[in-house]
Amino acid sequence: MLQTQTIFCGDNLQKLRELPDECVDLIYIDPPFNSNRDYETFWGDTKEKRAFEDRFGAVEHYIAWMRPRVSELYRVLKKTGSFYFHCDWHADAYVRVMLDQEFGANGFNTHIIWRRTNAKGLASKSFPNNHDSIFFYTKGKEHTFNRLYLPHSQKYLDDFYKHVEPGTNRRYRLGDLTNPNKNRPNLTYEFLGVTRVWRWTRERMQEAYENGLIIQTKAGAVPALKRYLDEQEGTPIDSIWSDIPPIQPQSKEGLGYPTQKPLALLNRIIEASSNRGDVVLDAFCGCGTTLHAAQNLGRKWIGIDISPTACRVMADRLIDKCRLREGEDFYLRDLPKTSEQLRKYPPFEFENWAVTALNTVLVNGHAIANKAQVRDMGIDGRVYPATVAKERQKGRNLFGEMDRWFPVQVKQKDKAGRPDIDMFETAMKRQGREKGFFISFDFTSDAIREISRALREEGLEIIPVTVSEILDEEHSYKV
Ligand SMILES: C[S@@+](CC[C@H](N)C(=O)[O-])C[C@H]1O[C@@H](n2cnc3c(N)ncnc32)[C@H](O)[C@@H]1O
Repeated sequence: MLQTQTIFCGDNLQKLRELPDECVDLIYIDPPFNSNRDYETFWGDTKEKRAFEDRFGAVEHYIAWMRPRVSELYRVLKKTGSFYFHCDWHADAYVRVMLDQEFGANGFNTHIIWRRTNAKGLASKSFPNNHDSIFFYTKGKEHTFNRLYLPHSQKYLDDFYKHVEPGTNRRYRLGDLTNPNKNRPNLTYEFLGVTRVWRWTRERMQEAYENGLIIQTKAGAVPALKRYLDEQEGTPIDSIWSDIPPIQPQSKEGLGYPTQKPLALLNRIIEASSNRGDVVLDAFCGCGTTLHAAQNLGRKWIGIDISPTACRVMADRLIDKCRLREGEDFYLRDLPKTSEQLRKYPPFEFENWAVTALNTVLVNGHAIANKAQVRDMGIDGRVYPATVAKERQKGRNLFGEMDRWFPVQVKQKDKAGRPDIDMFETAMKRQGREKGFFISFDFTSDAIREISRALREEGLEIIPVTVSEILDEEHSYKV
């Protein structure tokens, strides 16, 4: 049984190996290139610029890292399925060669150019690099393909659909009725005083003429076919996509993730290469654009991402934008659950996990981890009383300022010590907060003494919360 409407948290290489052969209709991936840099600029914070680990180094390493993943994706793709790989100039040439090898020479379908922005980098001595490449491959000839159209441009309408039919007001253009093959004696005859090799037989021409579909603009002119605008589907979408703007920092759709792709882009791919009820897979799904689009379009979906924070963000996106209920309409699986796993997290992941997981033990409040944009020295998140949290959700002002909140500090340490508590006190005072939450694996007795002193002497209430209390949901904390 294939589990769909599910986000799996973990390395896609491992997760994909757990999926059966040929179970997915459409795959879209947008992997990070060469390092986990994109991901860290988002989830990391600007206050402590974290050195990122250049995980794959050179292009060859990137390709060597991608290849087994592509090979697993190929395995899980149905024979009628389609595969889209989104990348940019850094590695597109190498990716294309690798995909040709993995999908076989006949697998390549289209190289789509997605024009992202307008004139960037004009200062350098080169042409601004303004596009991404999306490689479209299929496993077999019988793949699903729904042709998509864009409305004709005004210029096209003005240039070609110049005629308006009196009475009906229908716009039309003149279509050629002559035959490109000049050697068709059967179709060579005189019609309305003009002798040509025609496309149709005399009888068919006559019938069309009597139905008002053929027009002769003046005596002696070559008769032409009326092609009505309202019968045309528009301009077929080709391999150059320049009508979908990228997500701008201020756009409504933006979640603050630098490589977030627009819904319109994923809508197009999903509509072209799948039908309602088909299964769509994104194995690097970031903040969940593919899942959001697939859900809206009535497809089944599977998402995989290695970042627990990204998984949480997509789950919240599905709840917020698609009105889904977690645990009923969709599932979030394999989030790490033990202290040992959490000790191995990268620090920024741990912070995000801790602040979000604090919600499981909070009563009447909601904790939100800081985003990269928020520069709160010494604070990793905020707890809002339930009433304020509701208002924030309604106003969709997720990262905005509201005055009733309590700071959260996280230390990924076996035992947080007195200096850690001292620093948090300073941050609390700077922010004018009388209450705050401090999360760590444990606390030294000095730290606990300092917490009591701060309450007694300065009226600062610091609530120490251990990871195991969160995992075991042992205590609950009133806000
Ligand atoms: C460029 S982002 C995808 C953005 C996405 N298209 C969107 O619109 O939100 C790449 C994602 O791949 C994830 N990732 C990186 N390595 C991974 C791996 N081995 N397995 C699963 N996900 C991975 C990162 O956590 C990141 O969220």
